[in-house]
Amino acid sequence: MSGGPADRAVLSAANISMRYRRGGKLSGSEQIQALDGMSLEVRSGEILALVGPSGSGKSTLARCLAFLERPDSGEVGFQGEAVPWEDVLAMRGLRRRVQLVFQDPARAVSPRFTTEQVLREPQQAWQQRASPQRALDWAQLLAEVELDPKVLPMRARSLSGGQLQRLVLARALVTEPDALLLDETFSGLDLSLQAKLANLVLGLVESRGLTCVLITHNSALAEQLADRSLVLSQGRVVDERSAPDASTGGTS
Ligand SMILES: Nc1ncnc2c1ncn2[C@@H]1O[C@H](COP(=O)(O)OP(=O)(O)OP(=O)(O)O)[C@@H](O)[C@H]1O
Ligand SMILES: [Mg+2]
Repeated sequence: MSGGPADRAVLSAANISMRYRRGGKLSGSEQIQALDGMSLEVRSGEILALVGPSGSGKSTLARCLAFLERPDSGEVGFQGEAVPWEDVLAMRGLRRRVQLVFQDPARAVSPRFTTEQVLREPQQAWQQRASPQRALDWAQLLAEVELDPKVLPMRARSLSGGQLQRLVLARALVTEPDALLLDETFSGLDLSLQAKLANLVLGLVESRGLTCVLITHNSALAEQLADRSLVLSQGRVVDERSAPDASTGGTS
């Protein structure tokens, strides 16, 4: 956790562009401009929603902000500094601080792995580098995502959709990230479960001092959770909306 001022940008994009080749062909006419000079800042402690039509660049932006893909041009920043893409070690360190959670937990998790194995994976990768070695507080982690400890020895394939989603969230927390990017994370679930998980995320953002980027097609969910929404279209930010009660309705 940083000690910076509350409105400091945890993540930022400055004029980033990203082009893909449709079907991997090299022909120029086959190029897709996924991001077209996009700029934005995600402030410390905020929940920022990204909305916009399919193909507007939301997931591409999320991968760039999670340092998983490098844009063709422009800069991605973390805690006010441009990230050093060439520095493999530094990038590895940065990647643990920003966790991207995808929509489909069944694909993100090996079905034969037990809950414990799923959670140990990032822990081992991270703890190898961390010193001193720290034990994972299983009970606390599971409690945070409201998962019953009895699921620890259970295989991922035998968990319900909601349990799987909580497991994926827990896994994202193992490396103690500063920011969580949720890409349509709850879309596959029924509305009441979405609302429950939304509340869970709200609680985590507060208790862990997380910064959160929420990509969703569900505008009610965006309104319920986000302090601010950015509307994307054709690889650009075209509109910004602040939550109407963001400054007055706080209950902290
Ligand atoms: N790896 C890729 N290879 C080729 N084209 C891609 C790739 N990733 C994204 N694109 C294209 O870039 C554009 C933006 O895609 P992106 O997935 O970022 O949009 P999105 O806003 O997340 O859409 P959705 O709401 O459907 O998830 C689309 O035209 C998409 O087809
Ligand atoms: Mg997407």
